[in-house]
Amino acid sequence: MAKKELDWANIGFSYMKTDYRYVSDFKNGKWDEGHITDDANVVLNECAGVLQYSQSCFEGLKAYETEDGRIVTFRPDLNAKRMVDSAKRLEMPPFSEEQFIDALDKVVSANKDWVPPYGSGATLYIRPVMFGSSVVIGVKPADEYQFRMFCTPVGPYFKGGAKPIVVKVSDFDRAAPHGTGNIKAGLNYAMSLHAIVTAHNEGFAENVYLDPATRTTIEETGGANIIFVDADGNLVVPKSASDSILPSVTRRSIVYVAEHILGLKVEERTVRLDEVHNFKEMGLCGTAAVISPVGKINDHGKEICFESGMEKMGPVIQKLYDTLTGIQMGRLEAPEGWIHEIKVD
Ligand code: PLP
Ligand code: COI
Repeated sequence: MAKKELDWANIGFSYMKTDYRYVSDFKNGKWDEGHITDDANVVLNECAGVLQYSQSCFEGLKAYETEDGRIVTFRPDLNAKRMVDSAKRLEMPPFSEEQFIDALDKVVSANKDWVPPYGSGATLYIRPVMFGSSVVIGVKPADEYQFRMFCTPVGPYFKGGAKPIVVKVSDFDRAAPHGTGNIKAGLNYAMSLHAIVTAHNEGFAENVYLDPATRTTIEETGGANIIFVDADGNLVVPKSASDSILPSVTRRSIVYVAEHILGLKVEERTVRLDEVHNFKEMGLCGTAAVISPVGKINDHGKEICFESGMEKMGPVIQKLYDTLTGIQMGRLEAPEGWIHEIKVD
């Protein structure tokens, strides 16, 4: 087989059915060994736990083709671990890290022709998902679950690629204080749908959520963590006052890159909305978002404009972006254990 013929440079961030996916079922107290299938559909009883009480969690990671033609993934062990944390918090049976990596190897190698070519601007987005599949009518966890891992080639999450976006301060919360904001539960995203539709209708690319306890500090957006650069060129990373920010793999990697590769000072602390005007640069970071620069925040009609402007990324975020994507795509040497190569036959 050969690479699929797609207009790689112009695909958006949307689902495209690829050839194969991995499925494992949890029944009688254990996960089965899993298998690859070409069936993208799931048939469930109308009373399945996921349909009644939203018992589901998911992950997101990417596979990249390197310049020398290898296929690599970025820190998948952290996605596997976060999925274990999500499952435990939702009373779902954890899917082991070893089986997660085995599923990843199988899905990506089975779909190797869908991995976008090096330099095309597209990547293969991988979506592991787990849900309660057996019937539940009283409020309790399901007895049976399904884990799936599928993939789809994607382009940039925000239209315009690396062009700065405008975000708004949301009046809604995406998570409760000490609730499920720090895990990747599907229900967090259901919570954010009305807010994102509202923001899009008003012309904004994303919502900035404030901490749900006091609504005075910056948390994250609906699909990415936030980073700032202060007037001294230091990286400032918001910390949640109510443990409701998702621990982004990308953000944790950026903090490491900033401190250990670029020699920047990093402050991880609560960031008040009323101090944001002092920062020079802002970015959204995540698997889908990569690092997307923010030019302006709209806070109820008042604009907070960053010095980096609406034309291009600021200089510090550009350096972080170049280093992070250089590591992800094999152009730069990665810290030990960050790159997991997929063996293909
Ligand atoms: N925050 C939210 C709410 C997200 O959905 C995501 C996406 O996964 C992130 C942050 C970024 O996390 P990661 O870098 O692990 O993809
Ligand atoms: C990801 O970046 O993987 C996410 O899950 C974010 C989602 C909004 C696409």
